Amino acid sequence: MTEREKYIEECTEKFGELLREQMNRLDRMKSSGEKKERGCTVIGLIDGDGIGPIIMKSAESVLSKLLEKEIEEGSVAIKKIEGLTIDNRLRLGKAVPDETLEQIKSCDVILKGPTETPKGGKMESANVTLRRELDLFANVRPIKVEEEKIDWTFFRENTEGEYVLGSRGVELPGMAVDFKVITDSGTERIARAAFDFAKKNGKKNVAIVTKANIMKKTDGKFSEICNRIAEEYPGIEVSDWYVDIMAANLVNPEIRNKFEVFVMPNLYGDILTDEAAEIQGGVGTAGSANIGQRYAMFEAIHGTAPRLIEEGLQDYANPTSILKAAALLLSHLGLADKASRLEKALTEMQALRGNETPKTEEITSNIMRLL
Ligand code: IPM
Ligand code: MG
Repeated sequence: MTEREKYIEECTEKFGELLREQMNRLDRMKSSGEKKERGCTVIGLIDGDGIGPIIMKSAESVLSKLLEKEIEEGSVAIKKIEGLTIDNRLRLGKAVPDETLEQIKSCDVILKGPTETPKGGKMESANVTLRRELDLFANVRPIKVEEEKIDWTFFRENTEGEYVLGSRGVELPGMAVDFKVITDSGTERIARAAFDFAKKNGKKNVAIVTKANIMKKTDGKFSEICNRIAEEYPGIEVSDWYVDIMAANLVNPEIRNKFEVFVMPNLYGDILTDEAAEIQGGVGTAGSANIGQRYAMFEAIHGTAPRLIEEGLQDYANPTSILKAAALLLSHLGLADKASRLEKALTEMQALRGNETPKTEEITSNIMRLL
C-alpha cells in the first residue's frame, strides 16, 4: 500500500468511529432530558481564568445580596466550584477535570467566568466540554439598543454544528479536514426553543440564519427543519437568510430593528452574537445563557482579557457582562423581579458613567447601592 493510501485508510477508520459516536449521541439525545425535582436550588459559581475571578467577585456580591432571603430560608444555596483554572486543567490534561465536573453536576445552575482555551493542541475549550456534558443545547443571547428600538434575541444551537467535532478533525500530508454535524433532534429542539420564546414573548418574527447555499447537507437540513417547526407557530413570520447578508443586515440601520428572534447553527451564532454585542456597546456588555433540560449555565460572552492582565489593568475589568448573565440566571429561576432590579441597576449605572473608566470595585459598589 502506498503511503497516501495508508493515510486515507487511517482517516476513513477514524471517520467511521466519529460517525458511530455521533449516532450514539443522537440516541442519547432522544432519551435524555430528565428534570430534577428538589427543594433547594444550588447555584454554582466558577471563577475561570484571567479577569474571571475579578468579575466573579462582583457577581457573587450582587447575587448574595439579591438572594439574601432565599439563602437564609434555604430555598437557594450558593456553592463555589474550584478547579476550572487553566493551570489545573493543563496539569490534569482535561478540559474539565472529572472532579470539577462532578461538583458542577451537583448544582442546578452555574454562573461561570471566562475560561482560557489553548489555541491549537488537543485540549478542547472548557465551554464546549461543559455545553456538551450538561447538554446545554440552547445558547440564548439578548441584545438591546433602546435608542434604536433594537431588541434581538439570538438562539444559537450550542452542542453540535461546527463545534461538536471541532477538536477531532484529521490531518494528512499537506491538508487538514474538519467535520460539521447537524442532527434532526438537535435542530428540532433549538428551533422549538426559539419559536416557543417568540410565542411566549409576543414576538412577531423569527429569522433562520444558515449558509445552506454552500453547506448544503448540514445547513440545508437546519433550514428545512426550522421551516417545518415554524408551521406549528402560525402568526409568527419566518424568514430565511444566509449568514453573510445577515451580518450586513445587523449593521444596516434602515432594517435592523425589524428583526426580533434569530435561530442558527453554532458557529454562525458565535460570530453574529459578537457582532451584535458590539452594536450594543461592546462584547463586555452582553450576557449569555446556555440552557438544557436539566442544567443551565450563564456566562459573559467575552473571554479572559489576557491583554488587560498583561497591561496591569485587571482592576478595571468590566463586570457588566457577567452581571447581565447573573440577571439571565435569576430570570431563568423564575425570579423575574430580582432580574429586573439588577438590569435596572445596570442601566442606571451606565447612565451615571462619566468619561473615566471606573474600577471593577467602584462599579460593583455602585450596583450594590442601586439595587
Ligand atoms: C462564546 C465563546 C466560545 C465559543 C469560546 C470561548 C469557545 O466565543 O461563548 O461565544 O466559541 O463558543
Ligand atoms: Mg464567541
